[in-house]
Amino acid sequence: MVGNIPEETTSFVGRAAELARLEDTLGACRLTTLVGAGGVGKTRLAVRAARQAAPAHRDGVRWADLSPLQGDGPLVATVSDAVGLAAHTLRTPIDALCEWLTDKQLLLVLDSCEHLRPSCSHLLGEILTTSPGLTVLATSRQPLDIKGERLIEVAPLPVEGVADALTLFQDRARAADPDVTFDAPGEAEAAAEICRRLEGIPLAIELAAGGIGRHTVEQVAARIGSRFDVLTDASLWPPRHRTLRTTIGWSHELCTPLERLLWARLTVLRGDFDEAAAREVCAEGPLTEDGVVTALRGLVAKSVVKRDGGRHRMLDTIREYGRMWLAELGEEPSTPRDAPHRGP
Ligand SMILES: Nc1ncnc2c1ncn2[C@@H]1O[C@H](COP(=O)(O)OP(=O)(O)OP(=O)(O)O)[C@@H](O)[C@H]1O
Ligand SMILES: [Mg+2]
Repeated sequence: MVGNIPEETTSFVGRAAELARLEDTLGACRLTTLVGAGGVGKTRLAVRAARQAAPAHRDGVRWADLSPLQGDGPLVATVSDAVGLAAHTLRTPIDALCEWLTDKQLLLVLDSCEHLRPSCSHLLGEILTTSPGLTVLATSRQPLDIKGERLIEVAPLPVEGVADALTLFQDRARAADPDVTFDAPGEAEAAAEICRRLEGIPLAIELAAGGIGRHTVEQVAARIGSRFDVLTDASLWPPRHRTLRTTIGWSHELCTPLERLLWARLTVLRGDFDEAAAREVCAEGPLTEDGVVTALRGLVAKSVVKRDGGRHRMLDTIREYGRMWLAELGEEPSTPRDAPHRGP
């Protein structure tokens, strides 16, 4: 039984050493946390590690995505849903969850814990004590700081030697423009330069590769170079975040004004959403309902929004940038809300 691990819809690159280490750690420790900056690849690594570890767990792997949760209120309910507990009981939700897990032998993945660290720590303290067969893999931009937590730092993809970062750039560039070959003079060097500038951060690399087709590899490299230099001294951000912001800012510049407006307005939707929800929530003023559909396709093409079948999703780092833009536009950030759901 594999459970509800998210499907992967794009190629996976590298991480062999990390996966070998995770295999050992998940076999030996009750709680492992993958820690690293936004967009560095924690979730993607957790998906692979969870799939690899599934056969070792009698009751499989259960995956709880905590990124859409705005506060800790729905945490226990979200984890209960993830493990398949139908909560019809007079007991407190946490007691019901502990009881349900008591005799289970499963791997629970808590993805994106950083904004709910105290509540996650409390919950994990309880369930790890009452369920001896439970193993937890968490991802977080910050450690959870729980006794017994084994931390694994997720670094960006290597840019020298095996250069997995370059492989990722080439894969995503080919997806954006099937005609790009990296055979033309200067193209391969420009691609390597982009990966170095972006410090191997997968999210940043995907965003940059999303520009291929409308721009040549050399143009993308030149653009990133100049933006990076401008921002190097000016910011208080640690370099990795600074680079990421630079990259996102650059993606933002590539968008049409209506795409930017949609990007900003989409940030009020929590979790994933379909096209109808985007139309319903974001169409107003210059952005008509048809305009939302066109702009949404544009954002997908630029890797700002991910599409998986009919569902759309924005990475947290990208959403944060959109929120800043929403404030700049002078639109009151409305209360975050769940995407309206239709059908099954
Ligand atoms: N090894 C990899 N191979 C291919 N794509 C990758 C790899 N690692 C990350 N990516 C891609 O890079 C993007 C960012 O990765 P991911 O979402 O895992 O980052 P994260 O560290 O979980 O970020 P956040 O802190 O915002 O949750 C995703 O689109 C992901 O698919
Ligand atoms: Mg993540």
